[in-house]
Amino acid sequence: MNAPIGVIDSGVGGLTVAKQIMKKLPNETIYYIGDTARCPYGPRDKREVQKFTWQMAKTLEKHNIKMLVIACNTATAVALDSLQTHLSIPVIGVINAGARAAEKKTKRNEIVVLATEGTIKSGAYETALLSLSTKAKIIPLACPTFVPLVESGEYEGQFAFDLVKKGLKPLANKKFDTVILGCTHYPIIQHHIEEVVGSDVFVLSSAEETAKEVEAVLGYHEMLNTASSDPQHIFFATGSVPIFRTIAQNWLEKKDLDIRRIKL
Ligand code: SIN
Repeated sequence: MNAPIGVIDSGVGGLTVAKQIMKKLPNETIYYIGDTARCPYGPRDKREVQKFTWQMAKTLEKHNIKMLVIACNTATAVALDSLQTHLSIPVIGVINAGARAAEKKTKRNEIVVLATEGTIKSGAYETALLSLSTKAKIIPLACPTFVPLVESGEYEGQFAFDLVKKGLKPLANKKFDTVILGCTHYPIIQHHIEEVVGSDVFVLSSAEETAKEVEAVLGYHEMLNTASSDPQHIFFATGSVPIFRTIAQNWLEKKDLDIRRIKL
């Protein structure tokens, strides 16, 4: 019960999921890996993403995690099934959670999915959304410039806004009432996305719904840490620790973070 929850991502994007887990389950400890040195995963070959995802999972397994959250849509799209099959702990991804959140919000069933090339190519959101409602009209859009923008840490200001606006140009004449941020990096630039699509559109991420699923899964397996504790989260990054630290401190609104460089 006191073992950590493992959270893995291609970089800093999974912190958006980690933040919601910390909020919902404040007694739980999180061990996070951000593969920042090899980010982005979106344009990579499927087999390569599967290999990297397995490397992160195996590394956290050695830390005796009790559950694994794949907080990366690209990795979820291509590696969730195999990790669920072969690991002995519960494993969840973020795509079903994102689809559920959108299904609850949409009024007209017109849903835009913003994601990486890899996630869009996989069709995983279409499959998840159509399994919830056959009426869903889905508009997928790959936004390859967004992840590098977030990972650079330069995601505030006019330059960032203009880049987001350019990336969303293909939506100009489309009708939709809901946008899924189908990449865990995108909540960090959600304010820009909302400004471009307008206030009458719901923009949502999978983070909150994923945190609810973590609680449900741990509850089901009677693995929730119910004792009050002061969790000592650890963040491992394969790339620059200073850049990771700046983004993590800012996003998690915490100063004292244990961040370590790791080689996978
Ligand atoms: C990426 O590494 O390209 C983005 C991560 C994600 O798909 O959530």
